[in-house]
Amino acid sequence: MSFNPADNIQDLQYFGEFGGVNPSISDSSTYTFLAAKSMIDTFEGNLEGCYLYSRHTSPSNLYLGQALAAMEGTEAANVSASGMGSISSVLLQICSQGDHIVSSRTIYGGTYAFLKNFTPKFGINTSFVDITNLQKVKESITENTKVLFCESISNPLLEVANILELSKIAKENNLKLVIDNTFSPLQISPAVLGADVVIHSLTKFINGTSDTVGGVICGSNEFIESLRNVNDGASMLLGPVMDSFRSASIMKNMRTLHIRMKKHSENAMFLAERFEADGYQVIYPGLQKHPQFELYKTMYNKEYGFGGILTLDAGSLEKADILMELMQKRNLGYLAVSLGFYKTLFNAPGTATSSEIPIEEQKNMGLTDGLIRFSIGLDNDIERTYEEMKNCLQEVHIAMK
Ligand SMILES: Cc1ncc(COP(=O)(O)O)c(C=O)c1O
Repeated sequence: MSFNPADNIQDLQYFGEFGGVNPSISDSSTYTFLAAKSMIDTFEGNLEGCYLYSRHTSPSNLYLGQALAAMEGTEAANVSASGMGSISSVLLQICSQGDHIVSSRTIYGGTYAFLKNFTPKFGINTSFVDITNLQKVKESITENTKVLFCESISNPLLEVANILELSKIAKENNLKLVIDNTFSPLQISPAVLGADVVIHSLTKFINGTSDTVGGVICGSNEFIESLRNVNDGASMLLGPVMDSFRSASIMKNMRTLHIRMKKHSENAMFLAERFEADGYQVIYPGLQKHPQFELYKTMYNKEYGFGGILTLDAGSLEKADILMELMQKRNLGYLAVSLGFYKTLFNAPGTATSSEIPIEEQKNMGLTDGLIRFSIGLDNDIERTYEEMKNCLQEVHIAMK
């Protein structure tokens, strides 16, 4: 595969209004028209290059969207105020009352809650399945199914979806394959593998500085335009618009994404291998024992590695809590949700980012109380980090396998 997302970002060239090396930030909610007729044409979607109102589009948001579309290899992209703003808009755009969604059961807790508790209010129901079991996926499709939804690498269990095979199933059944690629920017390019729509929470690796929330929807021109349609577009009508100042700052951070992802992956791989060798219960897609290790290697853009997220099972919630407090005290990272920061972040998802998933279902999917999710930071001396972390693990008497 010759596709390289970081090269596509590098190849973009923008000039600011006064020749600045950064594009000018559009600091307006509304835009003037010199001719009244142009306003009518813009409303009807017949005039390119004119801006109407910033909930619809703004120059800064279009620049960021263009960069993200280039990164994912899609025709277009629309940014939004959060990852959930993107996920909810996509699903409500595609599905109508009576429609059905087949979703992976291991997904971000907010997405799970949206599908389980919110969309049923509009008559849109979801079957949650083990996405690695393609037979189960096929069996769950009904005549009302419109969407196949999953994360490339799932939150928090790090299951890897077989995007190529899922896209075949989607095509055979006339469904849209929607992939949340938040955990694996640059590493996996779902659209190149056949996904129809790719979503990111920009809040995480892509922005990388934990100073804002943001989201993006990448897809065909036709789909992105439908989301922005003034009459029936979910992004336009639900209004999850990103502010121009934020899109400008995310765009600047995106330029170092390839360097950051390589370092996140290198550091996570180092720790995963060491903890595995020590006998701790680690999950990381880069470990040979990971059930989808071989599959991952058939899909990834190799130079970006296996990603920055790993999990370690502390055995119980009590031990996980003590360990996380100790690691924070020793300045190894922060006890915080979210991911993709320069510093390591850790939390116990069963009671935090996946707490929306009922305990019984957590058990079924293998999400234990003591599981800690680590978003590994950009530490320069990862060997030193490992030694410190190991001291903490030993002090808390974390059990080995
Ligand atoms: C995989 C995944 N998708 C979506 C989201 C939601 O994104 P946001 O918090 O930007 O709305 C998250 C947030 O944690 C996530 O981890």
